[in-house]
Amino acid sequence: MPDHITHDPIYNTVDRDDFMAMIEVERYADRTDAFDAIISATRDHFWDPNDPAYIDYEAEPFDMDDDTLMPRDFIVELNCEVAEKLDEKQQIQLANESTRFTLSSILHGEQGALSLSASLCHVLRDPGAQEYAANQVREEARHVTGFSKYIEKRWGTPIGCGATLANLMNEIVMAPEVYKKLVGMQMLIEGLAMGAFATLHSRTRDPLLRRTVQLVMADEAFHHRFGKIWADKTVPKLSEEEHEKVEDWAARCFQTLLFNLVNAEQKQAIYPQFGLDWQWVQGAVREAFTDADRRRYMTEGTNIFRVLIKTLLKAGIITERTRPVYAAWVDMEELRREDDEVAGADVADATLIELQEINEKRRKISRALR
Ligand SMILES: [Fe+2]
Ligand SMILES: [Fe+2]
Repeated sequence: MPDHITHDPIYNTVDRDDFMAMIEVERYADRTDAFDAIISATRDHFWDPNDPAYIDYEAEPFDMDDDTLMPRDFIVELNCEVAEKLDEKQQIQLANESTRFTLSSILHGEQGALSLSASLCHVLRDPGAQEYAANQVREEARHVTGFSKYIEKRWGTPIGCGATLANLMNEIVMAPEVYKKLVGMQMLIEGLAMGAFATLHSRTRDPLLRRTVQLVMADEAFHHRFGKIWADKTVPKLSEEEHEKVEDWAARCFQTLLFNLVNAEQKQAIYPQFGLDWQWVQGAVREAFTDADRRRYMTEGTNIFRVLIKTLLKAGIITERTRPVYAAWVDMEELRREDDEVAGADVADATLIELQEINEKRRKISRALR
């Protein structure tokens, strides 16, 4: 039996196979307005990956034989013994294959977010909450298109999803419990994505990648807000037992992602072409990067795991019980004092203004043509 934790009726659910519950006459008027502002904002931050007015995939060539998409200090393999086994050309190739893996993971994550929000449409009873979810499906669909087009342009095809991310997303998409979906996807994976996008945006050398990521960020900031509304309405009302369940689920997702997301095992498909064995690569990376290094990386504002911890902390999900899981990596007091702006919010805000202008101009033109 699913173990639902619902304190606000706007998150009430029906069984995903119970379509008859969706057409009950009383349901339609039972609609929350909590998400109306986010739903109607979609018109302002509209963009289309197939329209060069927003992004032109033909405009920015990038010589991947000669240059790395991300700076070398970003590529762990180039900062340990692995680099000594490769000549200059191979180092550039490996760096770009590593970025291909990262972007493929993001593409699979976007598909996960699409399928997750579609699954919310089947279970949420409130028509307003359902409309929000349907709107998110539409936005995630353009992210899938946007990243597919970028990957196709640079490499032709993506790389298969690492087992950790694949299994976690499968569990979340299939879970009947809304809290598991919202904590796992809206707060953790979406939060992680915002951190990753902010880093890619500020550090990539490829203008086309920067533009792709920038447009996606304008949408993601709203998805993150949906998770925050759930937490604000739910977390303060949880009983001790319920809080433990939510907190344990969050800690489990966090640890799975922290220890497995980007290690050599997950990325193993990229090494054979360089004559490298993934287990040897993993050993070399481990030797060069200690837990102290991980902690140092986490002092950076856009570090993906720091962004995750901050999201959970600000949502009131972390208590003394699971605090050690996170305090091993970051200074919790410092995080608590920071404002609760999500990483990349500045980029998302600026993009929103730009998109409003493009969309307004396009509306004027279409009115004039009528
Ligand atoms: Fe997305
Ligand atoms: Fe999203």
